[in-house]
Amino acid sequence: MAKKVLVTGGTGYIGSHTVVSLMEGGYEVVIVDNLSNSNREVVDGIAAITGKRPILEEVDCLDKQALTKVFEKHAPLDAVIHFAASKAVGESVEKPLLYYRNNIGSLLNVLDMMLRFGVHHIVFSSSCTVYGQPDKEHLPVSELAPVQKALSPYGHTKQVNEDILYAAAYAHKELRVTLLRYFNPIGAHPSALIGEQPNGVPNNLLPFVTQTAAGLRDKLRVFGNDYHTPDGSCIRDYIYVVDLAKAHVKAVERMLSNALQETITPPDAERVEVFNLGTGRGLSVLEIVNTFMRVTGQNIPYEIVGRREGDIEQVWASPEKANRVLGWKAETPIEQVLLSAWNWEKRIRHIQ
Ligand code: NAD
Ligand code: WQD
Repeated sequence: MAKKVLVTGGTGYIGSHTVVSLMEGGYEVVIVDNLSNSNREVVDGIAAITGKRPILEEVDCLDKQALTKVFEKHAPLDAVIHFAASKAVGESVEKPLLYYRNNIGSLLNVLDMMLRFGVHHIVFSSSCTVYGQPDKEHLPVSELAPVQKALSPYGHTKQVNEDILYAAAYAHKELRVTLLRYFNPIGAHPSALIGEQPNGVPNNLLPFVTQTAAGLRDKLRVFGNDYHTPDGSCIRDYIYVVDLAKAHVKAVERMLSNALQETITPPDAERVEVFNLGTGRGLSVLEIVNTFMRVTGQNIPYEIVGRREGDIEQVWASPEKANRVLGWKAETPIEQVLLSAWNWEKRIRHIQ
């Protein structure tokens, strides 16, 4: 029988690509999403790509009664992938209570349900934000780099969620947890049927670049060119969302196959495994902009402005553990990734 995975936040950006990967891998998928940052049409996109419709339960993870019904209805479930969260760093500074309530309350409810309905495997969406600005000796960042004081309520919710999962796995010996720390996910499915759809003015670099190319924005503002990097702009590890999605399937497979845990305590302990998901290569803002212009033939007017508050100067992953233990590697060349982002933007803006 096909294994069944419940995916919270499954109509969102990373969730929808992961649902496609799971379905392509033969899993049955139940999506739980309150559509606070996505829409129903995403399911049409997933169905068009995979030839099969995943189940969508329009439920808020904070609504415990409704969540109970979902777990009851779809039992037995083999695993949960928990994406559902609010994710805008700036907004989390303005509305911290909303972020703590949604991001922590959702995980607590999901864990309660898992324990009640005997679901023992969970993959959690964490973030490289937990590392802050790592010291030079920790670049590229491995899972052993220290977690640093969070720079925003959003970042803090990721750290607290990780702690909750460690504590739950310690107390409930049947639980097994995989923490995936994503670097900077970008791009869209090659079909251009699903992709990233930020509300309002994008905060993230790639959506701002594609919207500028599409004529929705006059110009890109590059936040600072006086950093201690080769061209002065910040460096990040941009990871293709389709590659990232595949890592989730590997993580689920690994837990379900009961593979022995690779214990490198800390940070792994008591049936919790942590993986950094990135390419292992850092690219600067200006490299991204210039490569985008070259591969798409679109001009991106930009100006250099002052630094953005709270920005990290440079961070990129060591994906060595994920490569070795999960058997996963980010393989897609950046040119192809940037083109996928542009193809998606063109499709949703009806540009030929
Ligand atoms: P997204 O906003 O596109 O997806 C999140 C989905 O969760 C949305 O569809 C939203 O409607 C849903 N949701 C939010 N709160 C919910 C609730 N209470 N109940 C049910 N559904 C709810 O975001 P994304 O970029 O796909 O991110 C997915 C996860 O990955 C998040 O946990 C995010 O913090 C994490 N993450 C994202 C990035 C990134 O740069 N995109 C980087 C690191 C980690
Ligand atoms: C990338 C680079 C900007 C916009 C954020 C969250 C982090 C994680 C990923 C969830 C930076 C520069 C951007 C613009 C610019 N999310 N930039 N002009 O800041 O690495 O991380 O998303 O966990 O927690 O903080 O990503 O895409 O915002 O910025 O110059 O208009 O692009 O300064 O150097 P960031 P980003």
